[in-house]
Amino acid sequence: MHDFQYKRSALHAEDVPVEKIANRVGTPLYIYSHRTLLRHYNAFENAFDGYPHIICFALKANSNGAILRALAKEGCGADVVSGGELYLAREAGIPPKKIVYAGVGKTGEEIRFALKSRILMFNIESSDELKAIDRIAGQMKMKAPVALRVNPNINASTHPYISTGLRKHKFGIAMESALENYLLARKQVNTEIKGIHCHIGSQITKVSPFVDAVKRVLSLVRKLRKSGIDIQYLDMGGGLGITYENEVSPYPADLAKEIIPLVNKNDLTLILEPGRSIAGNAGILVTKVLYLKDSPKKKFVIVDSGMNDLLRPSLYEAYHHILPVKKSRRAQVTADVVGPICESGDFFARERTMNSPARDDLLAIMSAGGYGFSMSSNYNSRLRPAEVLVKGASFHVIREREQYSDLSRGVRIPDFLK
Ligand code: LLP
Repeated sequence: MHDFQYKRSALHAEDVPVEKIANRVGTPLYIYSHRTLLRHYNAFENAFDGYPHIICFALKANSNGAILRALAKEGCGADVVSGGELYLAREAGIPPKKIVYAGVGKTGEEIRFALKSRILMFNIESSDELKAIDRIAGQMKMKAPVALRVNPNINASTHPYISTGLRKHKFGIAMESALENYLLARKQVNTEIKGIHCHIGSQITKVSPFVDAVKRVLSLVRKLRKSGIDIQYLDMGGGLGITYENEVSPYPADLAKEIIPLVNKNDLTLILEPGRSIAGNAGILVTKVLYLKDSPKKKFVIVDSGMNDLLRPSLYEAYHHILPVKKSRRAQVTADVVGPICESGDFFARERTMNSPARDDLLAIMSAGGYGFSMSSNYNSRLRPAEVLVKGASFHVIREREQYSDLSRGVRIPDFLK
């Protein structure tokens, strides 16, 4: 469910006509609904209410400071994967004790920053990293709180680029090597074992892979406890899918219904790291039709947004609904919706049937709130779009559109070229 609906024939973001925002702020433009964002977050909170848990929003899905602040105010924690995300989480007021830090390539500098920030735990992805963290914590005369990210070898049956829980993937530590790594962690004097972590993939539309993963992790927890290794936190990662086209994804409550009975009486605090399921359908990308082009074989709708703003269709052939901001009665056409970037892969939809758009029409690319702006770039030296947060009948620019001068920010011309 989301708050981008038609009222009469005009698409609204909550109570504000999308056209009004686009006229004021320009296009391309990301628009988020505060109400949807909070509803999605609270669906997790309510589902796991009554069982000790922390919901750690995965910043990689959307790291706009205003979005983070809205979630922080509700009590949300953070799953971060870089110093930059840690910085933004802290700046948004997310308590360090609700921050977990994953990623296969944490640098020394990032580890020091996280130790200094006193985060809840590092999700460790290799023995090398485990040793490095102990060494750095020792230098800082601190204890590093850790969980090992184990790889439960679950096929999450999602797009190969976003499936992570198989043996062949670079993530996590193999189940077979987990005990040995926990024993190493216990031996290290500057390391404190806190928990166990797994994340099996993203856009998962069934509960069963999560159940399988948690079962495997729990049996490992029992084994570890028998060896005297205490585990307080079970971080089951993120990955709950959303509706892009017509997928039917479980609700957080469906997940809770299956997971809580499994973990119950194990004296564990659950951590979840949802990203897409909170932000994905809380945002849209609004773009303007520049030109219509009829080639002998195909029709094209050329819009003012490109793969640099929303990479998902190009990178994963991901489907996103594209809706007219104002409904029309024009005849239907089947066309590719493409951007201005000099790449054949710069498209938002292929062979999409829609009411024929006209020049200057506004289109809304749906389900763009997660992995939209956060994966954007300046490719083709394009300015990254503005972002707006709608709350009820009001809207707020939460990121200004870039200007040309932003493109040369930080660039230095050596003397010999002056
Ligand atoms: N935790 C960890 C350790 C992760 O690697 C991820 C996502 C998440 C949590 C959040 O997963 P979510 O709840 O959002 O599914 N760019 C891709 C998605 C990549 C996901 C990477 N990891 C996309 O646009 O579909």
